[in-house]
Amino acid sequence: MKEKLREIVDTLSERLAAASALKEVEDLRVWALGKKGELTQILKGMGALSPEERPAAGQIANEARVKIESMLETAASTLRIAELERRIKDEDIDITMPGRAPERGSRHPMTAVIDEMSRLFVGMGFEIAEGPEIETDYYNFVALNIPEQHPARDDQDTFYFEGNGNFMLRTATSPVQVRVMESQKPPIRIICPGKVFRSDDVDATHSPVFHQIEGLVVDKGITLGDLKGVLTVFAKEVFGDKAVVRFRPHYFPFTEPSAEMDVRCFSCGGAGCRVCKGEGWIELLGCGMVHPKVLSMSGIDPEIYSGYAFGMGLERIAMQRYGILDMRLMFENDVRFLRQFA
Ligand code: DAH
Repeated sequence: MKEKLREIVDTLSERLAAASALKEVEDLRVWALGKKGELTQILKGMGALSPEERPAAGQIANEARVKIESMLETAASTLRIAELERRIKDEDIDITMPGRAPERGSRHPMTAVIDEMSRLFVGMGFEIAEGPEIETDYYNFVALNIPEQHPARDDQDTFYFEGNGNFMLRTATSPVQVRVMESQKPPIRIICPGKVFRSDDVDATHSPVFHQIEGLVVDKGITLGDLKGVLTVFAKEVFGDKAVVRFRPHYFPFTEPSAEMDVRCFSCGGAGCRVCKGEGWIELLGCGMVHPKVLSMSGIDPEIYSGYAFGMGLERIAMQRYGILDMRLMFENDVRFLRQFA
């Protein structure tokens, strides 16, 4: 038996010396110590020995097992270390090499315009208010003096929620006026930029989702003069000191009197051109003195307070500012378009 054991140890030693991968060491472990391994076979044969022979044989076999295990472990750890050293050498990092620059995005032109407008109005003492994009019929229409059956609802067809006609995507940022008046006491001076929705088909100048900015000022003694002053300053900030504006009478259900503000075409100076479609003026926004009914529906006494409001679409302003000819570019998120604003 001793001889057989020495043979196993010798063979193992030879083969381990030749092994170059951990897998080979593992195979040898199975060869020697596995269920059908060489040593296991010998141990099984010990049953045939006499009771006197057994203890000595058992001791020898055990010593051989310990030796075999340690040989296997030594070989495995030598290979592991060699593998680690190889990797350290191969995967050497040159820390003096310039890093890979992270890809930097840029602000979307809409975001840039919203930020710029917000900064401008905040500079004039306005606060920024927000409201939900899903509105109820009351806030979107009724509280803005647009009761059911009012013809003004026709130009503001929107998206309703199946099974509940009371909820819709807001058609303007105007409902935020109502929410602010219900929850704040005058003096109120807010702007509200945000997304609005209408069921319009997509073309170069229309989109079912677009952006507006709403303004509302309510206090004692607010007049049309305040409205004209603030909006004129605003136009000069956006279009330059030489910008000329005009106020044209208009109709909105929630303001009385109402007006639209135009800016003289900055492309032709008023003579008429393609940009202003021959008008000489470019329409910028709607505005007016908040209707007394709108004030009182929101819990503000129109005998004590008065206010003005305005609302404008932002896509058009962004398009003019950046010379963008098609509104669809704003929503398609083509990086070739967006990169131009980096
Ligand atoms: N809500 C109007 C629209 O979507 C814009 C507007 C006009 C808002 C006059 C106002 C305003 O606050 O006073 O066309």
